[in-house]
Amino acid sequence: MPLVQVTRRAHFCAAHRLHRDDWSEERNRAVFGDCSNPNWHGHNYTLDVTVEGPVDPETGFVMDLKALKRAMAEQVVDDLDHCNLNLEVSWLEGIIPSTENVAVAIWERLAAALPDAVRLARVHLRETPNNSVVYTGG
Ligand code: NI
Repeated sequence: MPLVQVTRRAHFCAAHRLHRDDWSEERNRAVFGDCSNPNWHGHNYTLDVTVEGPVDPETGFVMDLKALKRAMAEQVVDDLDHCNLNLEVSWLEGIIPSTENVAVAIWERLAAALPDAVRLARVHLRETPNNSVVYTGG
């Protein structure tokens, strides 16, 4: 049975700040740069989620992309879009909302929400046109 990967894209806009309370302002500024701005800043994120599984001989699909779209909306995008990642998202509480950390948190939410026939293969979170991270589990 051939295993095929399928990717669905979503977009969201969110504000954040990269900052450690246990560091001085100088150290925060040195490490996090503009992303430590106390008055927040925002990004237009692009999220590509890839699942892998066998092709269902009846439908020709690995997974119904409508179901993947719904899972991404319910588990991730509806919670993050137009929100402050530091203040408003319960499942990001206590973590620095770097692209890396947000990608791992997204993985954990989606992995638990997918049908048994597929496995989550890749979460690709793009924060800016030039910066993105990939998490493949593990
Ligand atoms: Ni930022």
